[in-house]
Parts: sequence; C-alpha cells; structure tokens
Amino acid sequence: MCGIVGYIGDQKASDVIIKGLKRLEYRGYDSAGIATLNGKLLIKKSVGKVAALEENLTNSALDGNAGIGHTRWATHGEPNDVNAHPHTAQHKKFALVHNGIIENYDVLKKQLEQKGHSFATQTDTEVLAHLIEEIHESETMDFEKAVQLALNQVQGTFGIAVVHQDYPDMLIAARRGSPLLIGINGSEHFIASDASPIIEFTNKVVYLDDDEMAIIRNDSYEVKTIKDVPLTKSVHELAMSLEQIEKGGYEHFMLKEIYEQPQTIADCMRGRLMVDENRIQLGGIEAVVDKITNANRLIIAACGTSWHAALVGEYMFEYLAKKRVEVEYASEFRYQDPLVDENDVLLVISQSGETADTLAALREAKKRGATVIGICNVVGSTIARETDAGVYTHAGPEIGVASTKAFTAQVVVLAMMALQIGLRKGTIDEEQMRELIRHLDEVPEKVDQILNNQDNIKELSKLFTYAPNFLYLGRSYNFPVALEGALKLKEISYIHAEGYPAAEMKHGPIALIDQHMPVVVIAATDHTNEKMVSNIEEVRARKGRIISITNSNNGDVNRLSEFSITIPHTHDCFSPLLTVIPLQLIAYYIAVNRQCDVDKPRNLAKSVTVE
Ligand code: G6P
Repeated sequence: MCGIVGYIGDQKASDVIIKGLKRLEYRGYDSAGIATLNGKLLIKKSVGKVAALEENLTNSALDGNAGIGHTRWATHGEPNDVNAHPHTAQHKKFALVHNGIIENYDVLKKQLEQKGHSFATQTDTEVLAHLIEEIHESETMDFEKAVQLALNQVQGTFGIAVVHQDYPDMLIAARRGSPLLIGINGSEHFIASDASPIIEFTNKVVYLDDDEMAIIRNDSYEVKTIKDVPLTKSVHELAMSLEQIEKGGYEHFMLKEIYEQPQTIADCMRGRLMVDENRIQLGGIEAVVDKITNANRLIIAACGTSWHAALVGEYMFEYLAKKRVEVEYASEFRYQDPLVDENDVLLVISQSGETADTLAALREAKKRGATVIGICNVVGSTIARETDAGVYTHAGPEIGVASTKAFTAQVVVLAMMALQIGLRKGTIDEEQMRELIRHLDEVPEKVDQILNNQDNIKELSKLFTYAPNFLYLGRSYNFPVALEGALKLKEISYIHAEGYPAAEMKHGPIALIDQHMPVVVIAATDHTNEKMVSNIEEVRARKGRIISITNSNNGDVNRLSEFSITIPHTHDCFSPLLTVIPLQLIAYYIAVNRQCDVDKPRNLAKSVTVE
C-alpha cells in the first residue's frame, strides 16, 4: 500500500516522479504528493488521484533534478491535502514519504510534544519526520545519521524516501516490511516501491531488505543496515518490459488482464507441463519436492483472491495427490498459535509477494521449523525471497486492483504441483496423468473460446447493473469460484455479493431469495451436477433469477436458468480455470455500467503491506 518514487539525475525530477506515481497508483490513490529540491525544498500535495496532483503542478511547476513522490492509501488520518505525503517537520528543510505504519507513533509524538514539537497532520509519518529533525538539530548530528538513529527508535513497518534541501545531491531510502528498490542507470538513480515506475529508464535494480538503508547520489549509492553495517548488494536485471505495464488499447487494465489469460496460462505452463514426456517439471521446488510429498500436512496461507486459489488447491491436492491440506487466512494464521513444526510444509500464495499478513504467516511457520514454499507473481518480491523454494506464476505485471490473471495462474501452478506430487505418490497412474495433462494443456484454448464468445455476458450485465445484491453458488472445485465471483463484483461495482457452497444456501441465504435476487450458479462440474440442479430448483421455487455458468450439453441447468453462459468442457479439477472467466467479465461490465473506477476501486489497494 502506498507507492513511493524517488529520483536524482539529469532529468526534471517531477516529470519522472509523476509518471512513476501513475504506474504505482494501484498501491493506493487517495492522495498524492511530491517534493523536489531546487535550491530549496518545494512541496505540492493533492487529495485524490495522481492526475489531481499533476493538474496542480501545471499551475506551478516544481523544478529540480532530485525529488521524491508518494501516492497514498490512508492508514492514519483521513485522505486530504494535509495528510498527504511528503511530510516535513518544524523547520521544513527536509521531506519524507512513507509506506507502512509507525506503531509507536503515539509514544514518540508525546515525547516530541514535550520537547516543543507541534504537529500539523494526523499521520504517523509526520512523527517520524519530527523525530529525525529532533535528532538532527538538537544533537547536531549528520542528517544521514539522524535518519538512521530515528529508524532505530521506530516500531512497525516502513519504506521511506527522504530529501533535504541542504544535501541537494542526496536521497535517502530505507525499508522494514515495505518493499523498496533502487534503480541504477549510469548517472541517474531511482527509488521505487516496485519496478514499474523505473522500467522505462533501467532494468538494473538493487532490492533493499528489511532494516537496510541506502544513501543515493547521482553517480553512486551505498547500502548499509540501519545499525550502520556496510553491505555489498547484488544488482538484479529485470525481465519486465514497458509494454507489459501499459493498457495496450484496452479501456482498463482489468479488461486487458482478463483477455491476457490464454497467454498467461500458457506462459505459466511453458517448460513445466511436459505433454510429450507425460510429466511436470517445476524447477523452483525440485529441492523440496520430497519434503512436500512426505510432509505431514500442507498448509496453504494467503489473502483475498490468492486465498480463493488456495481453496481450489485444497480440492486438487486432496483429490489428485491424496495429500492432507489445510487452508488458512494468512491474517489469522499467527494468532492461532499454530501447531506447525518441521514435519509440515507451509505454502504461501501471493500475487504481489508483499502482502504483510502473508509474509507474517511465512515467518511464523519458518520460526516453528516448517519448510516454507511460495507461489508468487512478482519476481524478486519479499515473499519470493524469503521462502525456501517456490514457483513463479509468470503472469506478468497485474495492475488492475481486482486480481484476474494472477488467480488463474495461481490455480495452474497448484494444479501442476498437485499432479507432480500425485504422480510421485502413485495416487495418479501414468494413464490418468496423460489424460489430466491433456486437459490442462487445452485450457488456454478454451479460455480463448470463452473470451471470444461473451456478447451475452455484456447483455446480462446491463440487466443486472442496478441489482443491490447478488448470490453466487458453487460446489466442490467451484465453491471457491463462487467466493471469487462475489469478491470481484463487490470489489469493483460496490454491489453487495455473497459466495456460498450451494448446499449451505439452505442454512440462511435462501431467506434472501425473491424475484429481485440474481443468483449466479456455477454448475459445470459433472460429479455435483445433480445436486446443483436441485439447488437451482430451490432458487427457482423462490423466484430467484438464475444465471448459470455451465456446459452446453447440461440440459437441466440450461432449461432452469434465465441466462446460461456456456463454457467448454474440461476435467472437473480444472473447471475453475474456465468458470471464473465469465464471472470476471460480469463484474467488469457491471462496474463499467455503473461508471465505477474499475482499475482503482475505492478504499482498496493492490498490495496490502500493512497488517
Ligand atoms: C489485495 C488485493 C487483492 C489480492 C489480495 C492479496 O486485497 O486487492 O486483489 O487478492 O490483496 O494479495 P496478494 O498480492 O498477496 O495476492
């Protein structure tokens, strides 16, 4: 949450920073701000999206070749101009942008107030700025040293960037818990929360790890711990391209990402799904594959959409590999005093690889001796780096806040893992494997068919645009898809929606059904079909409006539905990869009809780096 960009070099810093902040808006967009150095410190802030800040800058440009910027997702203090970053202290000589939460800000604030500091905002970040100033001025300490000492007094998480008008050739960056990297391009350097703002300038980056800080100048940088131990960091080369993070003619990133799925699913399987050899090869977990096979339990922890993928994974692992799986909300995991030890494997799933709760679950399980593996999309992310082994989803940058292509890629990785372990354990024989691999291999083509045949989805979305509630029902592999469909709709259209296992409907939600209630039934898996038909009858008997996602030959379901969206047939295990596509599109078109900001829904952020 919150995006940070810093720049020092020959270009006009505000141009680079504004462009970069736009690319980082998925991390938060309730206000934005920028500070540059041009003889003195210049600051501009605006409530709302980065475009509002840009507009603000057209009236009074900020010059200078060094600066920092921020796009905010509020934690402390309502979103307004005052609480927007950058923040300064009493003498307004330096500016600070911050991603994370200073947990002991209240104690620090009281101490600073006793020393005469008064605060202009309700943010925790301003307290850090005052603390730095206090140390710098009262103890006549080097500025860089003052930042370091202040960070040692802070509890909580931070990714920060700092500029000081008396040190015009220097930016300071530091991190604990909130991602930050340094981009290097000859005589210019960048700071960013992720690679998207800098990719058009350089593909060379240094990732900061927790409790590290960097002193960055035009032509050099040094990294040390906040305890002042110098470090030599490796420079990584990014594989990402600029094209991948632009809209490419689509109205929204979300639509582009939905349409990319035939490709991203194929990319995710490339070199891993060995059709001719009838096997799966997942290089990233080779070293721990025995451990996974023999583990007492596989625990999967994740948040949001990734948690839904985990639930699909549970069904796959238990069916294909007869492996005991427990799925946990990452945010709850460590509060359960979890019974985890060296006989368990924890699998964390995270698109961003930065979700604070998922990272905390990973660290908790590691502390207790478990082997920790990951499924991440963002290469080099904190979770990817802290796990013992893992598999990247290779879905490319996902910018739309509502996750789409990351979900299908996560499910594909889970399917491949379950198949690999199943074959190893002998719970799948060679013949079954051949059949399953064939089905998986055909998924991209089938997703393409759904995407090329979605006019009726657009039409029905028009009809239900103003429905106040939606119910989604599914069974077995498609129960998590019901949850995911409901989540997509509420995230971007603000319509209240619930996902339920179809049979649970009778234990409560059925009371809500009347002629105004759209009920989306995901009825594509053969082995639950009869039961789904009964549930549909129950909804019909109460005049609910049935929208079904089903196969064309599913006569009963088609007959009973007001609208049927037909999808190609696949193996039951893989049906979530197809059934979820129409649900993504329904949510998308309804949100567009309601004129919602699809890519940047209110109150949400793509990467949730606070707990
Ligand atoms: C946020 C995003 C969701 C995402 C969840 C988990 O809530 O808006 O789209 O599913 O975080 O994120 P992760 O990056 O860990 O998959």
